[in-house]
This record gives sequence, C-alpha cells and structure tokens, in this order.
Amino acid sequence: MKYRFLGIALILAGVAIPAAADCDMAETGKALADKNRCAICHKDGGMATSMAKMAEGKTDEFLKQSILNPKQALGPNTRMPAYKFNEEEMQAMLHYLRSVSKP
Ligand code: HEC
Repeated sequence: MKYRFLGIALILAGVAIPAAADCDMAETGKALADKNRCAICHKDGGMATSMAKMAEGKTDEFLKQSILNPKQALGPNTRMPAYKFNEEEMQAMLHYLRSVSKP
C-alpha cells in the first residue's frame, strides 16, 4: 500500500516537473526576446511577422537558422540581424515562440 502511494507520487512528479520546466523555458525565451528587442521589428504592422505568427508552420531548424544565420536562411538582403544564442538560449526561444504561436 505504501509503495503504491509512492508509485503514484513519482508518476505525478514525473508529469509535473517537465511541465514546469517547459513553462520556465518559455519565460526565459520571452526575457531573451525582450532583452534583444525582437518585437521592434516583429509586431503587427512592423517590418516582419509578429512574434505570435513567426513560428507558424515553420520547423525548429528553420527558426534556428533564421536567428543564427539569417543571411543563409532568409537571403543575403534580409534585414533580420544575426544573434549569437547558445543552444540553451535557442531552446528557450523556440519554447517561447511555440508558446505564443497560435496554430
Ligand atoms: C531590425 C529588425 C529585426 C529585429 C530586431 C529582429 N528581426 Fe527577425 N526578422 C526581421 C525581418 C525583416 C525578417 C524577415 C526576413 C526576410 O523575409 O528577409 C525576419 C525574420 C525572422 C525569422 C524567420 C521567420 C519569419 O518570420 O520570417 C525569425 C525566426 C526571426 N526573424 C526571429 C527573430 C528573433 C527571435 C529576434 C530577436 C532575438 C528577431 N528576429 C529580431 C527583422 C528583425
């Protein structure tokens, strides 16, 4: 009986922890986007697609390349600046973009 309870507790923790981590990552990504002022250009009526629409229909790889190597991913004349995010920051940014994106 005691063990069964422990089992259930572990299952619940297993579900709750990744969900909380997901949320934290989106928060970190939002902070990164705010700090780097992505929304100056990425907003409704701005020069580029709004943050909420940016990830729609795009693969993680494309989003990543657009942010790290915009000239290669989007074309040599793009006005999208290149950002040097490390893998952790990039994952946080992708979580944020997915979290605000309306499918
Ligand atoms: C100076 C303006 C500017 C800033 C600041 C900027 N972008 Fe962009 N971004 C653009 C433009 C313009 C495009 C469209 C590229 C094209 O079509 O040439 C673009 C394209 C993109 C794309 C490719 C998908 C799409 O919507 O076309 C991603 C992803 C992206 N930006 C992410 C970001 C992120 C994340 C930040 C902040 C860290 C950021 N951008 C900051 C101008 C900007």
